[in-house]
Amino acid sequence: MSEPKACVIGWPIKHSRSPVIHRFWLNALGIAGDYVLQPVEPDTVKAFFAGFRDSGYVGCNVTVPHKEAAFAAVDEMEPVAETLGALNTIWLEGGRLVGASTDSFGFLANLDGAAAGWHADPGAAVVLGAGGAARAIAWALLSRGFAPIHVVNRTPARAKALAERFGPSIRPAGWPDLPTLLPSARLLVNTTSLGMEGQPDLRVDVGALGDHALVNDLVYSPLETTLLANARSRGLAAVDGLGMLLHQAVPGFEHWFGTRPEVTPELRAAVLATLDDG
Ligand code: ATR
Repeated sequence: MSEPKACVIGWPIKHSRSPVIHRFWLNALGIAGDYVLQPVEPDTVKAFFAGFRDSGYVGCNVTVPHKEAAFAAVDEMEPVAETLGALNTIWLEGGRLVGASTDSFGFLANLDGAAAGWHADPGAAVVLGAGGAARAIAWALLSRGFAPIHVVNRTPARAKALAERFGPSIRPAGWPDLPTLLPSARLLVNTTSLGMEGQPDLRVDVGALGDHALVNDLVYSPLETTLLANARSRGLAAVDGLGMLLHQAVPGFEHWFGTRPEVTPELRAAVLATLDDG
């Protein structure tokens, strides 16, 4: 049998860090296999999935703009993907294409690893943004008993759509509402691109948060965002977004290569080194 090979598909695809993560694990675990970038032009994505069984790949990750096409292409999917209406990981099982969404898992595993006990006394949470990442995180927080979850978004319709999907525990809000929502929040998560290198600043008054609030930024470039730095200097627990990127890759690797890998400081350092390269 030939060596198992997986890929990440997208268009364009060259900025994906996934090959660094999976190749690190292949190497560390001594597994003969590969993980490559596979550019797929939008008008060929249907054909790509139709021919997947003969492509030589054991599975793939899916990134923009192919998430919808992937959702339509799989033969079955895990319940979380169905609930979220999105998937990012695909593998072959007895000739059938199976899909999963691993973002909620990655988010939870990151906080479980970096802020043990963070959900011991769940209460209100504030999620900034209402895109795909916010959807996965809102579901993850509901599963750990957080409520209400205030979803703060520039475009009101997207926050409302989240509430329609998940019910009354999700409270759509706008940025002007933020000062009144922060004092009771146990957790603040930024899922927007604000604060990312080359993007506008994220302006949040962390002074308005309670003394036991946890702050998590999904942005990992820079690793220490202004939001996290401000939270830390106010004495709050703060968790960066790189861990979610690493943890969300675990289930795919296990499906493709047969071993459950670990997120270690060495993996983190290897990925950080590539971020420094730009
Ligand atoms: P992802 O799938 O990573 O969540 P996305 O679906 O593109 O990405 O969502 C990006 C989020 O960042 C959205 O909530 C977006 O707000 P809108 O829904 O109003 O577009 C938010 N965002 C991006 N740039 C922003 C900006 N300059 N100001 C406020 N919100 C911004």
